[in-house]
Amino acid sequence: MDDVDSIFADDVDLIKDATVLEEDYTPDQILCRDEVLSQYTSVFKPIYKGRPPQNAFLYGDTGVGKTAVTKYLRQVLEHDLEEKNEQLPASDQIDLTALWINCENFTSGDHTTSSYQVAVGIVNRLRESGNRINATGYAPQDVYDILYEELDALEGTVLIILDEIDKLESDDTLLYELPRSRDIGYLDSVRVGVIGISNDYTFRKTLSPKVKDSLCETEIKFPAYDADELAMILRDRAEQALYEEAYTQETISLCSALAYKEASGSARRAIRLLRRSAEVAEENSSEQIEPPHIRQADEDLEYGNIVESIADQDEEKLNILKAIGHLDEAGLTPARTRTVHTAYARVVSAYNSGKQPLTQRGMFNHLSKLVMFGFVRTIDRNKGAGGGQWNEHELSDDLTIQKIREAFEECDRQWLPIDLRGVAE
Ligand SMILES: Nc1ncnc2c1ncn2[C@@H]1O[C@H](COP(=O)(O)OP(=O)(O)OP(=O)(O)O)[C@@H](O)[C@H]1O
Ligand SMILES: [Mg+2]
Repeated sequence: MDDVDSIFADDVDLIKDATVLEEDYTPDQILCRDEVLSQYTSVFKPIYKGRPPQNAFLYGDTGVGKTAVTKYLRQVLEHDLEEKNEQLPASDQIDLTALWINCENFTSGDHTTSSYQVAVGIVNRLRESGNRINATGYAPQDVYDILYEELDALEGTVLIILDEIDKLESDDTLLYELPRSRDIGYLDSVRVGVIGISNDYTFRKTLSPKVKDSLCETEIKFPAYDADELAMILRDRAEQALYEEAYTQETISLCSALAYKEASGSARRAIRLLRRSAEVAEENSSEQIEPPHIRQADEDLEYGNIVESIADQDEEKLNILKAIGHLDEAGLTPARTRTVHTAYARVVSAYNSGKQPLTQRGMFNHLSKLVMFGFVRTIDRNKGAGGGQWNEHELSDDLTIQKIREAFEECDRQWLPIDLRGVAE
């Protein structure tokens, strides 16, 4: 391989198996989660025994293993049931259909999902391609009827896992109906169990009491990992993913310490940091990951995180950020609210979207949110009695116009020049 001369090649390779560091890789062992695993096992036990399934609500911060543990346990359950069924006569065998639904995949422009869309998603998961239904064009009750028909055509237990369930914030019809579908008399031959997964505990509060009662029959909390636990998870991943000489104990402890400090104990962040560190070391032709590579990798990830969280903002807020970004670049910040408003109105008209810009008051409301999120800093100028009082705004230290530009590109929005002549007058 060494003699191949390509711009894509590095002098050294540190990563032995990159798939192990991928986002959707399911680890073959779950570490540091004994308490959670034992609670969760009790939830699945009735299914294994052929009894009515339980419902459960799982919650915890991002990157603490909710999805990974659920995938792992689902595999174990399916595997063990298969073994058990081999020993049983056909008539006593236990049927299980487990459906994994990520509610995030059905979100629309406002970042939320409706029960209707998820119901369509479940139907289509159960149907053959060619026989799938359209995401629009049915009355909601018709979709539920089709859903019950499809479910009732199955046997035994249907386990419906709703990951990122907090995206379903607009209505909880589905969460009400699914766990009760049998009691309500919609289903004869199957029993439905629902697992809801959320990284937003407050989501639970938005549920109606009836839904809370059934869905949150069992609640399992996933606590954040501490630095030692992150190190254990990372060591296991590194052994599979990296060549032995590529890292040291120090690599593991520094990555874990940084992920603990900066991402409140997220294993996802720790694993991403390890992968990026290996890449940085490769780019620098280093045979081993050194602390400066890890620091560089950490900065790269932070940069990406900020760009991502800007890109998550709605169109008005992005327009306001672009306005302040251009003012900043032109040395016109901190700028008074009316200057920001003029620049913002020019952004809106540059995109010629046929839309009216918000009034200064309306814009100010969005601007206050941007301050709250830490994107913008507002300075309160007070010249005392008679001197007047006003606000001035600028980008926060974490933000640059370059990051805003990348966020626009991530949202597939063009980056147009803005004419700032006369805005500050
Ligand atoms: N206990 C663990 N043992 C091994 N790997 C783990 C463990 N916990 C998490 N991971 C790994 O960390 C990463 C993030 O975990 P996961 O996707 O399960 O987080 P999550 O809690 O579902 O987060 P989110 O709320 O953002 O969806 C995954 O790559 C997962 O494999
Ligand atoms: Mg998850």
